Amino acid sequence: MAPPLAVEAALPRHLSDGVSVWSGARLADLRSSSPEDYEALREAVDALGAASGVAQELKGPLTTAAKLVEAPGQRLYLLHERGSVAGLVKVGEKHLYYWRRGGGTVELDPVCVLDFYVSAQRAGRGRALFDAMARAERRDAKSLAYDRPSPKMLPFLKRHFGLADYVEQPNNFVIYDSFFGKDGAPPRAVGRAAPGVGRVVGTL
Ligand code: ACO
Repeated sequence: MAPPLAVEAALPRHLSDGVSVWSGARLADLRSSSPEDYEALREAVDALGAASGVAQELKGPLTTAAKLVEAPGQRLYLLHERGSVAGLVKVGEKHLYYWRRGGGTVELDPVCVLDFYVSAQRAGRGRALFDAMARAERRDAKSLAYDRPSPKMLPFLKRHFGLADYVEQPNNFVIYDSFFGKDGAPPRAVGRAAPGVGRVVGTL
């Protein structure tokens, strides 16, 4: 497996340490209002997206600034540390067919974790970024779906959230058994949207 890349890209000067959230529309606004800041952020997002693709042994990046602009429903959370972007997690709703353990399918529209990467790993940054995202999305870990979770993601979810049991799906999404309530119903958003660890400095 390729070694993780250290990505220390410059940040737009107005973003302080914490977690920011971006939509394609907000990035496009920044491009119009402040091209220099947009360019710094684009470089950081593209570098981290590329590093994530390498770390997951994908053919190319799942996340670039241009891809986010083309996917209006998606949210990109960025972890900022000392003027650099140190991690990203991208989420969005997907319409999925889910094959039940006992047989039969059901259609679901979960919030899905689509890409997730931190440049310095196994030091708690992934957890901090994940928690900030989950609070802002008003979902806990079991109430999210995971697109093709990597060999690091599965232990991450087990270690921090005790998530282990799921039915393998032909579409490679993982939805844990505990996603479903006792009545078999999918989860609803819980709690009020709130900043997580650090501050959610951006708004959608
Ligand atoms: N091997 C196995 N488990 C790992 C590894 C690894 N190399 N790295 C992290 N983990 C898991 C373990 O459970 C670990 O706990 P442990 O050290 O006690 O064994 C736990 O994550 C550590 O938690 P954090 O420090 O909060 O995690 P981290 O900051 O490393 O962030 C992340 C987790 C984002 C998965 C990071 O390791 C990473 O960027 N990996 C490369 C890219 C990747 O695989 N992303 C997931 C894509 S899948 C998706 O997006 C749906």
